[in-house]
Amino acid sequence: MNDTFLKACRGEKTDYTPIWMMRQAGRYLPEYQKVRGNVTFLELCKSPELCVEVTLQPIDILNMDAAILFSDILILMEAMGAPLEFHEGKGPIFPKTIRDQAALDRLSVPDADEATGFVMDTIRLLRKELRVPLIGFAGAPFTCATYLIEGGSSKVFWETKKMMFTNPELFHNLMSKITEATILYLAAQARAGAQALQLFDSWAGILAPCDFKVFALPYVQKILQSLKKFDIPLIYFANNGATLLDLSITSGADVIGLDWRINIGDAIKKVGKRAVQGNIDPFALLLPKDQLRKRIADLLDGAKDAHGHIFNLGHGIHQFTPPEQAKIAVDAVHELSSR
Ligand code: CP3
Repeated sequence: MNDTFLKACRGEKTDYTPIWMMRQAGRYLPEYQKVRGNVTFLELCKSPELCVEVTLQPIDILNMDAAILFSDILILMEAMGAPLEFHEGKGPIFPKTIRDQAALDRLSVPDADEATGFVMDTIRLLRKELRVPLIGFAGAPFTCATYLIEGGSSKVFWETKKMMFTNPELFHNLMSKITEATILYLAAQARAGAQALQLFDSWAGILAPCDFKVFALPYVQKILQSLKKFDIPLIYFANNGATLLDLSITSGADVIGLDWRINIGDAIKKVGKRAVQGNIDPFALLLPKDQLRKRIADLLDGAKDAHGHIFNLGHGIHQFTPPEQAKIAVDAVHELSSR
């Protein structure tokens, strides 16, 4: 097995810098579109054989050094009892928002093997096929909570912040319930064979550091603490999180995910003896080849003092990115980092 990714997560020496890309399985690949043409997104998420197929695509086509389970962070929210819909071009929708204690009481903390057995089946099948490590994942509680409270994606997060500031008890109750469910869910993924686990905190960056510390971070810490016993790398990615970095490094994660808004060398000075993952702007994949390679060389150079560096984008790959450009990046990382 190619274990370069796992070694980098543990801060061990590697022959080259491993690379994977957040949202690497998805719409920018014609091969994904072909599979997706026959089923809805949720049907795809619940069909282990199809999930295996699309998880493998970026490994085979682009030569990534790690695979990420094909699923969605919101699958767990649906399993907790929040009906979930995806409308073409509109993103996720929760028609029944969680804005009072009665609605929260209707959510459950499910047995992960029962309620999301299709995810665990996907993991078991993938482990038979893969020659690179498999990353399992979940949404961080704050990010999941925003979807349940807002009823979908949001730009201003009015309802979320209204609840935080006018009914903090309800907000904390919701966060506790999501946290409990997430611990069971990620533990089940580890038991099924996930070799690393990532928490995606896509919306952490909308919080002031003082609020992140009270309303979001303690729940991330609790989840990561309960997963330590599995002895696999734990990754925490707070999108737009440069201003939260001092706090994020106390999350308990072995690997700190970085978005592109921070200089990687500056981040590494703060992160110390932990690995970093990141952090090229996803849109920089559009640069002409020589400029893209130069940018990658600069980033690798900026990360030379890291206690482990996993090359990644600063957020998910955009759906209109030409796959050839992603391939140029993968090849450049492998070639330019080769030691
Ligand atoms: O990374 C991977 O390749 C694994 C699969 C994966 C998906 N979603 C597949 C997906 C992962 C890790 C996620 C995480 C996820 N889902 C996050 C956190 C990461 C981030 O990007 O911030 C969030 C916030 C979600 C919720 C979600 N799912 C949204 C907002 C959307 C709509 C996105 C859009 O651009 O329209 C989804 C749908 C989704 N999840 C797609 C994929 C491939 C597109 C679905 C389709 O085929 O139409």
